[in-house]
Amino acid sequence: MCGIVGYIGPRNAQDVLLSGLAKLEYRGYDSAGIAIYDHGEVKLAKTVGRLAALEAKLNGATISGNLGIGHTRWATHGKPSDENAHPHAGCASDFAVVHNGIIENYLALKEKLLASGHHFASETDTEIIAHLLEELWTGDLFSTVLKVLEEIRGAYALAIMTKNDPGKLVAVRKHSPLVIGLGDGENFCASDIPAILEYTRDVLIMEEGEIALITESSVECFDLKGNSIEKKVFQVTWDPVAAEKGGYDHYMLKEIHEQPRAVRDTMSGRLSDDGRKVMLPELKWPEGYAQAVDRIHIVAAGTSYHAGLVGKTVIESLTRIPVDVEIASEYRYRDPIVTDHTLMVVISQSGETADTLAALRNSKERGIRVLAITNVVGSSVAREANDVIVTWAGPEISVASTKAYTTQLIALYLLALYLGQERGKLDDVFVNGFLKDMKELPDKLDEILESSPWIEQTAKDFAVWDDAFFLGRGIDYAVALEGALKYKEISYIHAEAYPAGELKHGTLALIVEGVPVIALVTEDSLYEKSVSNIKEVKARGAHVLAIAWAGDEEIGKSVDRVLYIPRTRTALAPVLMVAPLQLLAYYASVARGNDVDKPRNLAKSVTVE
Ligand code: G6P
Repeated sequence: MCGIVGYIGPRNAQDVLLSGLAKLEYRGYDSAGIAIYDHGEVKLAKTVGRLAALEAKLNGATISGNLGIGHTRWATHGKPSDENAHPHAGCASDFAVVHNGIIENYLALKEKLLASGHHFASETDTEIIAHLLEELWTGDLFSTVLKVLEEIRGAYALAIMTKNDPGKLVAVRKHSPLVIGLGDGENFCASDIPAILEYTRDVLIMEEGEIALITESSVECFDLKGNSIEKKVFQVTWDPVAAEKGGYDHYMLKEIHEQPRAVRDTMSGRLSDDGRKVMLPELKWPEGYAQAVDRIHIVAAGTSYHAGLVGKTVIESLTRIPVDVEIASEYRYRDPIVTDHTLMVVISQSGETADTLAALRNSKERGIRVLAITNVVGSSVAREANDVIVTWAGPEISVASTKAYTTQLIALYLLALYLGQERGKLDDVFVNGFLKDMKELPDKLDEILESSPWIEQTAKDFAVWDDAFFLGRGIDYAVALEGALKYKEISYIHAEAYPAGELKHGTLALIVEGVPVIALVTEDSLYEKSVSNIKEVKARGAHVLAIAWAGDEEIGKSVDRVLYIPRTRTALAPVLMVAPLQLLAYYASVARGNDVDKPRNLAKSVTVE
């Protein structure tokens, strides 16, 4: 996730770009840059670090011009560095490109471009676009961009300019957000409305596969084939604070709704073209390593630990490698039993959790190879691990983790499949079927998010209670733990997750008339046993909400309310099941009048022991 902005009009472009980028830093802040058309040249200023570093680099100097683009980066391809910062220019610096997203086929395109003599200045996927513009130049920016789009695959929002056809800005959207701001004798483009709200409240919300050709006096929109399309002007009525949250009341709700995009991005570029293989080129494992691993230790804290519990189930079932999942603050003080071929997997959204980092360091001292799954490219965990799989959730601002969890699950599925396929345990047909199901998750998540009003009402009813119980068996239990954590951390209501079969060994004593019980019922092989456990709590008066597969009419007979989720294979159910649980916690917190994004006593990143 990165932020892009573009401007054309009478104002000083640099000022507009810098103020726009300041509003987009929530989307990424490891490097920043601008490109401005200044006296016949495209001039670039970019640097690693936050926007303040770019301002320091400019040091009061202004690149003077009225057309420009800017970028604030959240590294995906290539570390945070001056070279990898956007905008990117081609060999002759005639063009400038800023990009939010991932170009999946960039390696193949890069090889071709290198063979035809192009020189690359960065490790990014984005830079190929600047070189393709040079290669395919028609004499006109818009038609050249159309030709470039035929070559690239992936997710992108782009803003592009050139000195060879000045007076124009082209902006494109495919799977990454983009809005066009309409001014009087000036126009704008940006990843998000706050970046341009200071200048205009009239915007065009770009949809999938739409391109805008922007001049200072006009904006024309087209589809990817170049056919003209009409778009409605959207009048922004939000105040600037609400606008930063995309119109949502809280960052948490915004981040819950970002999950379909985040899941899609985390898979992007990691599946082979025929969809039969997982590719993880970021793993620099020695020859034969995948085959030699005989034990896996997953170590993490909080929500990341809960993702690890799902990971254990999936890795063990797809690879038959024994997996232990441990809480970092415990593991770091233990003397764990490791073999020469134990792989440690640390999971950390921030990459800075002190206990997780300490556990990683201990393991490295023991000579264990460490793979990190993290959301922050330049974090301590990412720098110190031997290998890193980055989750492309983008910056997570709300303390309660949501989109980081779902993308951690995606990374773990990919790892499990990769290990399984490399060890010869899984055939192409199985991997193909699994990946097909994974690709359907974003649309299914969207469908679940549409049930928000129903969940809001349920949460209001439940929030009058001071307790809630979350039940599940098998993989459902792992998700129940995350559901209970979300619920307690932001609603401050006592919430406990229990393996449903363990209830009668103590927790059943706490079930009283009317108390909310949330039962997760997607483990097909344990369905009947789960229903029996639901009956046990029902018999003691509990009010049961079941989260079950669409089409499971039977479950309705045993519970008070049912939320149906679209079917997928059980291993993937956690990605779908967690969304209603996040919403339930969110609305319970709102109902109690809490500060959702900043729950009491908690911090986003726990960098002390
Ligand atoms: C804090 C956060 C949680 C997070 C945990 C682990 O408690 O509030 O949301 O799950 O730390 O953080 P990490 O960044 O290592 O995943």
